[in-house]
Amino acid sequence: MDDPRQQPSVETAPVKIRPEIASAAAYRQGRPAPAGGFKLSSNEVPFPPLPSVVAAIEGAAESINRYPDSSAADLVRRLAALNHVADDQIAVGPGSISVLRQLITAVAVPGDEIVYAWRSFEGYPAVVTLNGATSVQVPLTDDGRHDLDAMLDAITERTRAVLLCSPNNPTGTTLTHDDVERFVASAPRDVLIVVDEAYTEFVRAEDAVNGLAIIADHRNVVTLRTLSKAYGLAGLRVGYVVGDPVVIAAVRASGLPFELTTATIEAAKAALDAREELDERLDILVSRRNQIEAGLIDQGWHVHESQGNFVWLPTGDQTERAAEILERHGIIARVFPEGIRVTVGERQSIEPLLSATAEIVRGLEN
Ligand SMILES: Cc1ncc(COP(=O)(O)O)c(C=O)c1O
Repeated sequence: MDDPRQQPSVETAPVKIRPEIASAAAYRQGRPAPAGGFKLSSNEVPFPPLPSVVAAIEGAAESINRYPDSSAADLVRRLAALNHVADDQIAVGPGSISVLRQLITAVAVPGDEIVYAWRSFEGYPAVVTLNGATSVQVPLTDDGRHDLDAMLDAITERTRAVLLCSPNNPTGTTLTHDDVERFVASAPRDVLIVVDEAYTEFVRAEDAVNGLAIIADHRNVVTLRTLSKAYGLAGLRVGYVVGDPVVIAAVRASGLPFELTTATIEAAKAALDAREELDERLDILVSRRNQIEAGLIDQGWHVHESQGNFVWLPTGDQTERAAEILERHGIIARVFPEGIRVTVGERQSIEPLLSATAEIVRGLEN
């Protein structure tokens, strides 16, 4: 679906619009599925919300004449307990993308640089631009990984933050704990390092980084997490960051009051309470991911093991053709110029997906 918002134009605008805002591309939302097809374009989980989460939202409906608790203190306390940190080490916001925006607002002024790998999460350029800062994009290696040496080289006097995405959206690769430790040891100590772990609950690789283990020893490192993915609350918008209390205070000061609604707060608490039920769902998705990857490897794909709830198809110059084939099989995926990201979704989506990829790979071999 096309974004209904009109692209603002500096020339025809009735007021002076910042040129970088006028030229910023609107966020491309994943398209809805065709009838009988599957929407595998937004890395959402395919399961319906848990009844306890729905009940929490219904309960909250009774008090919507009142403002929510601006500090979301109960939720912060629960997240702090979950992550074994103090309450003042957690800041929450309406989705981790908003929390990231607050992080950048806290450290960067126009002209400052934010370094991140590319291709990575599509929200990064927008968040940087909205803050008036400058993106410094460092190409991934050929096997879809962060090029950490090149990222270190890209740090200048103007760098205020580095974003590390693990697992990386869209390639699914993880950074190891040692990779990140080495990076942090070599980077300037006053540069904020954000380890974006939106998909951490899907990770099964033992050497993958866990940002919580890094922040304990490094005050300039934070880990960014979300309840949109594993917790299935994408439509409600809850994300958070864990880090040093002074950084967290700055993140909180960079947000607006009342950004989380009462319904969101209550649903998030209910989802955290349901972690065991959610874990079963996570295991199902991880086994579907493994099934899809095994199928792709059998078909001759060179896939790098994904640790997220998605797989990456390196279709290169055949991408357009590949996207058409996927659509013909009822699969709506996220199409990039150099490849296609497919979310691990409904059980019934696996067969049409693998039929499509079998057809695609035949063309790639020619
Ligand atoms: C790597 C990464 N970070 C952050 C986000 C933002 O998630 P949310 O704002 O829903 O918490 C996403 C969403 O797809 C993502 O892929």
